[in-house]
Amino acid sequence: MVDAPILFFDSGIGGLTVLREARVLMPGRRFVYIADDAAFPYGAWEEQALAGHIVALFAPLLDEFRPEIAVISCNTASTIALAGLREAYPDTQFVGTVPAIKPAAERTRSGLVSVLGTPGTIARQYTRDLIASWATKCHVRLVGSDRLAALAEIYMRDGFVDEEAVRTEIAPCFLERDGARTDIVVLACTHYPFLVNRMRKMAPWPVDWIDTSEAIARRALSLLGPQDTAAFISDAEPDLARMTSGPPDIATRRLMHGFGLNME
Ligand code: DGL
Repeated sequence: MVDAPILFFDSGIGGLTVLREARVLMPGRRFVYIADDAAFPYGAWEEQALAGHIVALFAPLLDEFRPEIAVISCNTASTIALAGLREAYPDTQFVGTVPAIKPAAERTRSGLVSVLGTPGTIARQYTRDLIASWATKCHVRLVGSDRLAALAEIYMRDGFVDEEAVRTEIAPCFLERDGARTDIVVLACTHYPFLVNRMRKMAPWPVDWIDTSEAIARRALSLLGPQDTAAFISDAEPDLARMTSGPPDIATRRLMHGFGLNME
């Protein structure tokens, strides 16, 4: 008997930030990583079109991989499609990734918090509802970036990042008001933790950057049943990555290998 895999899903490489945490917490599990790069960037899609696209994409994936759980390791996808996925596939457990507004509101001292995400995530009613539920006592600035997810893709494949572009994209997160300064920036896109060191370097003053990857991986772990240790020991099936655009280039292949994923 072989353990059912844990399926990770993102528009690109962002979900790898969650997968690397999951590996630490669940070393014996099998992972399948799906990057819908044919449709990247999700941040630029119209809401209903994106929701329909993602729900349709999952039918053959669930059929083929029969995952124990599916982790939507993408804020842009989760905030628009999680409800639709749960409704369409009630036999699958889905774990979503949504902006960490509650922990930010609990942690801020200055009361000034920024949420940095794709234009899609920032525009969502879902995000506004999180603020209304958990952060009414803070001033939350929503900052949508057109470029950061693509900059992270380039950085991870080619090892290059345009630091001035990072500076420009994060600049609106930094607010000074009545002698107080923004002290927390929520990374509301799974691509961004790959750039966090550059963000730290280019920030006008130090802040806490909230990254939810570990919390998402822990949530996934909490939903798993006991492991089939025989499958772990025999290491029967390798972890796998697939890009929806088809066979990947060398840089992507290397990157996925670096995360322990074989490409088809
Ligand atoms: N990684 C995705 C997220 O967490 C978004 C990147 C994109 O725009 O496709 O929001």
